[in-house]
Amino acid sequence: MTTEPAAGALKRLHIKTYGCQMNVYDSERMADVLRPLGYAMSDGPEDADLVVLNTCHIREKAAEKVYSELGRLKELREERLAAGGERSTIVVAGCVAQAEGEQIMIRQPAVDLVVGPQAYHQLPELIARVARTRGERLSADFAPEDKFDALPAARGVEGPAAFLTVQEGCDKFCTFCVVPYTRGGEYSRPAEAIEAEARSLAEKGVREVTLLGQNVNAYEGGLANLIRRLAKVPGLDRIRYTTSHPRDMDEDLIAAHGEVDELMPYLHLPVQAGSDRILKAMNRGHSAEHYLRLIERIRAARPDIAISGDFIVGFPGERDSDFEATMTLVRETRYASAFSFKYSRRPGTPASAMPGQVAPEVADERLARLQALLGEQQQAFNEGLVGRTVPVLFEKLGRHAGQIIGRSPYLQSVHIEAPAGLIGQIAPVTIDGAGRNSLAGSAVLEAA
Ligand code: 5AD
Ligand code: SF4
Repeated sequence: MTTEPAAGALKRLHIKTYGCQMNVYDSERMADVLRPLGYAMSDGPEDADLVVLNTCHIREKAAEKVYSELGRLKELREERLAAGGERSTIVVAGCVAQAEGEQIMIRQPAVDLVVGPQAYHQLPELIARVARTRGERLSADFAPEDKFDALPAARGVEGPAAFLTVQEGCDKFCTFCVVPYTRGGEYSRPAEAIEAEARSLAEKGVREVTLLGQNVNAYEGGLANLIRRLAKVPGLDRIRYTTSHPRDMDEDLIAAHGEVDELMPYLHLPVQAGSDRILKAMNRGHSAEHYLRLIERIRAARPDIAISGDFIVGFPGERDSDFEATMTLVRETRYASAFSFKYSRRPGTPASAMPGQVAPEVADERLARLQALLGEQQQAFNEGLVGRTVPVLFEKLGRHAGQIIGRSPYLQSVHIEAPAGLIGQIAPVTIDGAGRNSLAGSAVLEAA
């Protein structure tokens, strides 16, 4: 078995393998998926932070041996804790795990995790969940700040539009992403506290809030309920939310898009990729078809909604045909805006250990093609507004004298020659020009 540690390895892993060649092979795979998390092999169970028993069920005696070994591991753990050491994690894998499942934990409560052979690739996620329930952070190997990890900074009140954090953390464990490890599990702020903050923002002149969360639509108690509640706050005319996961886009939230006037017709709904093979490897928990049908239902509730997304190109194992599936999904969806990234290998995440890392030149070329298509769609969406009159919330002065900048309901930036006194107000603007990143308007009719 390879014992080479990942850079900065901090933890020790011991795998005891019982039975056949299949188990020997599986033990190696387990070591492979755990290595990026900073686990190096230990000499024995005594100095291991994580002990995996990869078990065999072929004879009853073999299963009994596992229970006696678990008793020994429990004692080792107690000795270690008594000596001031860290608590070890005990995992049962293999055929006994498959056959007896959670029963093992009833018979030996010292066991932290039982994992069947189909789930070895999920070990990093499963172990992170165990660590979380103990209030631990999984790994110190992750950079404290990651560019994909941070939410838009919650800012003080500087203008009429403000961010409001309602949810933090993520339970989704996409295999490329550090957030579930660095930010921990999903946590929702109580609705009362959020409403109180929204009221105080509105009293300070805020007219638009963007509800923030890594998985904002997983908000406990229902994001739609929270939105309906905030829509009643006097002075708050516009509500947005970001970022959402397709798996948490429930019927009620979709319906709210058709029913709540304050909820702006804009939705950031990352899909990451259009190939089901890649979506599976990403552990996204949805297919391309599921996403497209979801978009259809959202558009049925709110036909003019602006759809935005996130994409990753060059995920490990992405072939030309997978990338073409992403392009097809983009063509079908017709995005109003989007963020696209080249896959970046994050140490400690499951994808970083996956085979088939894509050559940078290939990823660069795919990214350029995707961005060209998304850019065309953005331009087309913006041009669709020309000639229409839309309410604009004026936020700040423009770069040129006499110019102010606001936002359309679709989150487009709107530039217009108009008095600075309009800042903080919402007024109808006729759109007479469209670029890729902004709209130009004329004729402010009346302020509301
Ligand atoms: N490589 C590239 N993009 C990433 N994102 C998150 N992790 C990675 C990574 N390792 C992107 C996803 C996510 C957005 C916030 O950042 O598209 O939706
Ligand atoms: Fe990361 Fe996926 Fe969670 Fe988004 S949903 S924060 S990409 S793990």
